[in-house]
Amino acid sequence: MSAVLSGQAGAPSYVKNRKLIAWVADVVRLTQPARVVWCDGSQAEYDRLCDEMVAAGTLRRLNPAKRPNSYLALSDPGDVARVEDRTFICSEQKEDAGPTNNWMAPGEMRATLKGLFSGCMRGRTMYVVPFSMGPLGSHIAQIGVELSDSPYVVVNMRIMTRMGRPVVELLGTDGEFVPCIHSVGKPLAAGEKDVAWPCNDTKYIVHFPETREIWSYGSGYGGNALLGKKCLALRIASTMGRDQGWLAEHMLIVAVTSPEGRKYHIGAAFPSACGKTNFAMLIPPPAFKGWKVTTIGEDIAWIKPGPDGRLYAINPEAGCFGVAPGTSEKTNHNAMAMLHENVIFTNVALTDDGDVWWEGMGPAPAHLIDWQGRDWTPEDGKAGRKAAHPNARFTVAAQQCPSIDRDWEDPNGVPIDAFMFGGRRSTTVPLVTEARNWVEGVYMAATMGSETTAAQAGAQGVLRRDPFAMLPFCGYNMGDHFGHWISLGEKLAASGSKLPKVFTVNWFRTDEHGKFVWPGFGENMRVLKWIVERVEGGAGGAEHLFGISPRYEDLNWTGLDFARAQYERVTAVDPGDWRKEVAQHGELFARLSPRLPRALQDARAALERRIAA
Ligand code: OXD
Ligand code: MN
Repeated sequence: MSAVLSGQAGAPSYVKNRKLIAWVADVVRLTQPARVVWCDGSQAEYDRLCDEMVAAGTLRRLNPAKRPNSYLALSDPGDVARVEDRTFICSEQKEDAGPTNNWMAPGEMRATLKGLFSGCMRGRTMYVVPFSMGPLGSHIAQIGVELSDSPYVVVNMRIMTRMGRPVVELLGTDGEFVPCIHSVGKPLAAGEKDVAWPCNDTKYIVHFPETREIWSYGSGYGGNALLGKKCLALRIASTMGRDQGWLAEHMLIVAVTSPEGRKYHIGAAFPSACGKTNFAMLIPPPAFKGWKVTTIGEDIAWIKPGPDGRLYAINPEAGCFGVAPGTSEKTNHNAMAMLHENVIFTNVALTDDGDVWWEGMGPAPAHLIDWQGRDWTPEDGKAGRKAAHPNARFTVAAQQCPSIDRDWEDPNGVPIDAFMFGGRRSTTVPLVTEARNWVEGVYMAATMGSETTAAQAGAQGVLRRDPFAMLPFCGYNMGDHFGHWISLGEKLAASGSKLPKVFTVNWFRTDEHGKFVWPGFGENMRVLKWIVERVEGGAGGAEHLFGISPRYEDLNWTGLDFARAQYERVTAVDPGDWRKEVAQHGELFARLSPRLPRALQDARAALERRIAA
């Protein structure tokens, strides 16, 4: 059981870390919670918090016959996604945050936060949530402690991270941790009744990269509030990686095993809404008998050079916070199988028999309660009203994924053989292209772009440059991030090690009717097989101005009716399109210019020359 301590910050006896004890006391003084609970991470604690949230109306227990131990939370309609425009990187120097991040001077931000956090937990419980990103004790892992006034955050953090007493014990008396402070920003006056989803219209998601601190105010949703994920594992960790010679990337990690038992590991970066979870859990089509794809991670990778000069990756998370809409037996059988039990659903629709439904799952039932708690029928759907919010989520333990790799918790990580970078591009970018060398690969990643979808705020189909799929997640200057990749590659090459190969993919080319030409999903195995064969030095390909792509005859087409002409549509490299593309790369580079590595400017100039020729 967790220790519940009324009106004071006194820690349970197993807490020995002096810095932690002092910091909790400071935050209690500032935020003035009614009580403090040190979370031990036990199942009993999780169940108790869920029961309390059911009683408070924050969670609804789903029908145990349909979804055992599962809950539905419906958020405030104004608190449904990450708030990139309210996310700040407060480095001492503005240039260190760079032009792609919001910045405020640390002193000014600290004054703002002090005002916001003063008394902000009045009437609420402050939970102390110790967590490890990465397997406990792994040399690649990092420890954080989140202080939050949201029990919803606590139960989600228990699924998404290794959380609780063992983490504090590992900290000992002097262990280092990243302090993370979170408040929904809605203090309760004496006797005031709480709402089901407290939050505040004013939102701040703040990172101090030099002092490695996170402060989050006003939102209870996803990456705004589960501070281990985007805030620590990407924004703060990317700055640690820059300083210490490793990488924190917005990448899934998969293993591909051939029928002969050869196993390759791939880190793949895709912006949000590009089917990352589906790719991480890919099931090869029947023609690929004996091939196996297993999952190590589906959102974030921490990658460090090992003693043998190769790069090793861990998944720092323990769970999956996946987008529900669009997930079905057809698109992702493994994800559906992992959602049978022990799941927290947020902002999906509720069926009359106490189960969940979302757009894309299958035929809509005749009646639902939608994500805003209103009645919904298929007629409402026809009128354009979604039953589930497009950013509705499931939180579930990675262990429940049927394709989870046996080595997914290896504290030393898995050796990376290839990197993939992919965006949603209706034109221009071919199905798959191999970079001819490391710098060309970094160039591909740096110039990645993706077209926005209905799941994102703003206009649909707008091309946004999203370097490394890290645009909202890089905790420092993006130009420096490119430089960090280049210098890491140089260092590894100088030590004589074989660098991972780099590939760009695009599943999303469309025809004249706007329909996708490439079938995607499991059929992406055809591309994956080519990639691992290229790593082995086997498969053929043809060079074009952007890199090397497979010819039609280089891919295995057994079991798929995909004509040469269709293949041409997803692979053609049109010099006219590329002239425009490279001009846009130039615009991005101009924005980043003082910190843009020379090698990338040269790579762009070379590409321009090839197009002109
Ligand atoms: C996510 C995202 O939630 O990338 O993983 O937006
Ligand atoms: Mn993500």
